[in-house]
Amino acid sequence: MKTNLVLFLAAGILSLSACDSSQTASTTSDSTSTDSISNMIPSKANYQDTIDGKQTDLFILKNSNNMQVAITNYGGRVVSIIVPDKDGKMTDVALGYEKVSNYQNEEGVYFGALIGRYGNRIGDAKFKIDGAEYKLAANNGPAALHGGPTGFHTRVWDAKMLNDYTLELTYVSKDGEEGYPGNLTTTVVYSLTDDNGLKIDYTATTDKATVVNLTNHTYFNLNGEGNGDINNHILKINAAKYTPVDAALIPTGELKDVAGTPFDFTKATVVGERVEAKDEQLKLGKGYDHNFVLTNADTAMKQAAVISSPVTGISMEVLTTEPGIQFYGGNFMEGVDKFGKGGKAYPFRTGFCLETQHFPDSPNKPAFPTTTLKPGETYKTTTIYKFAIQQ
Ligand code: GLA
Repeated sequence: MKTNLVLFLAAGILSLSACDSSQTASTTSDSTSTDSISNMIPSKANYQDTIDGKQTDLFILKNSNNMQVAITNYGGRVVSIIVPDKDGKMTDVALGYEKVSNYQNEEGVYFGALIGRYGNRIGDAKFKIDGAEYKLAANNGPAALHGGPTGFHTRVWDAKMLNDYTLELTYVSKDGEEGYPGNLTTTVVYSLTDDNGLKIDYTATTDKATVVNLTNHTYFNLNGEGNGDINNHILKINAAKYTPVDAALIPTGELKDVAGTPFDFTKATVVGERVEAKDEQLKLGKGYDHNFVLTNADTAMKQAAVISSPVTGISMEVLTTEPGIQFYGGNFMEGVDKFGKGGKAYPFRTGFCLETQHFPDSPNKPAFPTTTLKPGETYKTTTIYKFAIQQ
């Protein structure tokens, strides 16, 4: 991230000088009128560009409760999620940038992004299928992370608004792209439901055996984006076990009991309460950056986690068909750039991710649920981030 500081700063000077006429988004609004909510979302013009020969744009999903979600087809990224707080004040709970170019210039952050072909890490950046070895770019120490440097988070997806609340994104990843075998066609449908759920349906098919693990990397802050760190959030994860990691953050293969450790979120617990505890795993992750093994780790739709802010009363439930969830507490956030919405910087632990997924390094861990997709099969998973006011 640091290596890109100069680029970030240069882009910043350019964008500052060019931003006189462009609106900047604010975190909260006292009014629930459609106009004032729209003012909280970056302007569409900031997202209309041609990247890799394709049009990018900002798409706004709306439901009947005035909830709005803004998504760009550059990296399939969620830019804003506007929900009411306990006093009815509309609040943006997703971290995001003011302009599409800010997403192009970020490195190792993945704000709001669709992650693929393989979310999370693959140890030593290689794996085998049917005896054939595939080598990937090592972009996180010795490991391959989040689909590689030009993973799905950097691609322009074909976009189609199916109605006011549904956006369909499609991307065809070529055989050999980022080292992965097979032409993979991925469709992601984002829909905003009338019970304030942001539903994400992922499907993919391939013409050659490959590995697939798709997720979304939105950074949330239920205090409102830009409103301090997330240590005051109260989190429950329905997981009796997690996958401890080595120094490269690759699972050791063990499924470890959370009981008696700072990873026990089976009862709702304040995130910051144990984050600095003396614990080898917290030390390795620089805080929470671990995969939890969901109870009922099958393909049924189930509640994976619930998290809430005591300040705004906003809660978010995560439901998924996936067997795992990565809780990342924003330990690598540095807050050096000010390209966040409304010119904000996002410092250390001011956002969290709950990335539903298959377990990291599954291609090299035969005992983990498989991530291999073969021709004729359809990869199909669903995750819902559902917002409410804590009662
Ligand atoms: C993931 C990883 C983290 C970190 C973030 C992005 O969630 O698990 O270690 O790389 O992405 O900074």
